This record gives sequence, C-alpha cells and structure tokens, in this order.
Amino acid sequence: MLLAAAAAGPAGLPTAPATADASPVPLRELAAARGLRIGAALADPVALADPGYADTLAREFDMGVSENDMKWGLIHPAPTTYDTAAADAELAFAEAHQMAYRGHNLAWHNQNPPWLLAGPFMRDERIAQLRDHIHAVVGRYRGRIAQWDVVNEALDGVLDPAHDPWSTSIGFPDYLDIAFRAAHEADPDARLYYNDYLDDIPGPRTDRILELVAGLRARGVPIDGVGLQTHTVSRPCDSSCANEQLATMLRYHRLGLEVAITELDVAIPLPATPTDLAEQASVYRTTLQACLLAPNCHTVVLWGFTDAHSWIPSLRPGYGAALPFDENLDPKPAYDALHATLDAPPTAPTCASYASPADAQAALARGDLGTPLLDPDGDGRACAPIDGPGPSVVPTSVPGSTPPASTPVASTPVAATPVSATPALTG
Ligand code: XIL
Repeated sequence: MLLAAAAAGPAGLPTAPATADASPVPLRELAAARGLRIGAALADPVALADPGYADTLAREFDMGVSENDMKWGLIHPAPTTYDTAAADAELAFAEAHQMAYRGHNLAWHNQNPPWLLAGPFMRDERIAQLRDHIHAVVGRYRGRIAQWDVVNEALDGVLDPAHDPWSTSIGFPDYLDIAFRAAHEADPDARLYYNDYLDDIPGPRTDRILELVAGLRARGVPIDGVGLQTHTVSRPCDSSCANEQLATMLRYHRLGLEVAITELDVAIPLPATPTDLAEQASVYRTTLQACLLAPNCHTVVLWGFTDAHSWIPSLRPGYGAALPFDENLDPKPAYDALHATLDAPPTAPTCASYASPADAQAALARGDLGTPLLDPDGDGRACAPIDGPGPSVVPTSVPGSTPPASTPVASTPVAATPVSATPALTG
C-alpha cells in the first residue's frame, strides 16, 4: 500500500511521519481528477451494516451498483409485488456518500422469478410484462440512476439469442428495442447500456455485439453505451492487453457509443501466490489504462471490492481472491496498481508523435502506453483513427466526469499488433 512510512531518523530514532496525513489519496479522488468514475458492486444491506466494509466502499469509490438486488427475481418476486427494500437501502447508501449509481439490470436470462418463467404467455402479454416492469423500476428511481444496464447478456455461449423469457416470445432483437424504448420513456436522462461478457477484446462475441448494437443505433433505439463486464482470470498483462481493450473500445466509439467497464474482477487459483497477485495487479492496471486512454470510457466498476464478498468462489470452486482488497479489507497489489495508474500523469491516445513506422515499432517494443499502437481493423495502420462519427460521440452524463476531447491521430502504416487470447470468465 502507498502509505507514507514513518522514516527512521539518526541512530534509528523514529522521526515524524513524512506527511501530516499518512493516508493515501482515495481512488475516487484521483479518478475524478481524470474524468472517471470508479465504482464497486454493493453486496447487500447486511454487508453495508459492517462499518469496515461501508467505510472502505465510501472512501474509495464514487459509483455503486447493486450486485443482485435490482434483478427481476429479487425486486419483482410476484406478478404484482415489488420488493425494493434492499435496492432502496443500497441506493440511499450511495447517495449519502456522493456516489453515482448504475442500475443492473432490466432483462436477463438469469435470476428471474419463477412466475416469469411460467406461462405460456402470448407475445403481447410478454411485451406488457417487460414494459410494465421497466416503467415501474426505472420510474421509481428516475433521476437517481446515472446508467442502466437495460439488457444483460442477450446472447448465449454460441452467440445465439439466449434462452430468456423475451427472445422466444417477443422475438430477437425486437425485445431489445422495446426494452430500451421503455427505459428511455421512464427516465429520459439515464444513460442506457447493453451489458455483456467477452465484449472488451477482439473476438467473435465482440463482433456479434457490435453488429447487435449497430442495429439498435440504425433503428433509432435509445442506446448510449455498451457495458464491458470484464470478468477475467489472472495472467501477466502488458501493454498488449491494454491495446486490445482500447482498440475494442474505439470500435464502439466509432458507432457513437460510450463504454463502461461494469463488472471487473480478476480470479486467481487458490491459494494466491505473490506472483499471482502481481499478475492480477497487471490486469487491473492495463484495464484501467485502456479506459483512461479511450475517449468514450469514463466508468470503471468492479464486481465488489473485497474478497470477503465476491461471486468468484461460488462460480469457480478453487478460484477467488479476485478483488483489490483482501478479506480483511487490506489493500492488495491490485489496489496499488489502480492507485498508481490513476496517479500517473495523463497520456493522450495519439500516434501523431511517431515520426516513422520504425519509431512506432520501437514504442511497441517498449510497451509505451503513452502512445499506444493499435490495429483494430487489421489494416496495418498503427493507430485507430478516431474519425468515425465524430460529433456523434455521446457525451457522458455521469456527474463529475469531463470527457476528454477526441485526439485526431495519424495513420502510420506498420505491422499489425499481435492479438493474444484473453482467458475470461463467462457470466
Ligand atoms: C452474479 C452475482 O455476483 C452473484 O451474487 C449471483 O449469485 C449471480 O450473479 N454477470 C452479471 C452479474 O451480469 O449480474 C452476475 O452477478 C455476474 C455475471
């Protein structure tokens, strides 16, 4: 941790601490100075009652999301019953600590109440169920939720429409159009997201999701962004990881969409070794670097913050330790990596400083993230020209964040950056 240690004076006598306040600047303060919200999922109201949990959360993070309590199965347990007590308490905690909030989620194939899975329901009934739910939930929190995950994981593992209550009875992708339009009706100021996994790196899922959201845009559906869950497994990451994510973020940018890292965690096979923890820190660092460099990324949310409350051990027995604070709320190397990255001087995502392709290649070899090398289109250009929709880049409405201007970049021809496989957990 980056605490200023009490220095030893002459003859080993202790001297006064180097600074009056030895606490490091919290992540949220550093993030705000970089135009970024940094957030964490709130486990449940029981966890919030633990002062250590609550203090760490409120000190370090300025965005929250309910890990479970706004999902259909919990907030709408019976056809005419909404149970908002837990979600209300979590949002109230966030507001009391000047944290913005993400709403998660309004349509998913998982964690649905049994009554919703019963049926059969006619198409019109399904549409009415979906619209009524969205109007009720989004309407209840109107003006208080900055970003909603309107549709979560609409695709299954082989990229077909997921087996959810909506795709079969309403139709795919029609139900997405209906859901986004209903959310926009209920809160015209909320930023509306499509959220999924394995959509932060090059690959078939990202391609399919780009196609899906491009269709939404083309049909005039009110979608503002794409959530990149980013549940990953620990591995050593260098600038190539950041470049892959940055390149992917820029593909959404060209569609006029913002992106948010929405559920970041980095699972480690237990017991975690110091090497594992260092590799985990490298994933946190490069993911944050990619977001800081992308003109359309102003949100990084972790799926929890302490290993005491993480879904990973139940998802993957034998894995865990996925978050930046350990079970005792002590910061891990991943915390230091986030802190140091936010504290580093800002860099601009530009290739214009490369005088020649050789210089660009040398920068790649150095792993110089100040001037990232990108080849998202596989056309051999060094950098992604941010010349797509230009002014249609969506300004973020997250309070307190100032989007940096897009930086025009030169297209210097160099060899494509290699694309490496990213192990990822699926949701
Ligand atoms: C997970 C929660 O963390 C668990 O507590 C719950 O049992 C299952 O859902 N993708 C998502 C999240 O969008 O809603 C999931 O959350 C994790 C994967």
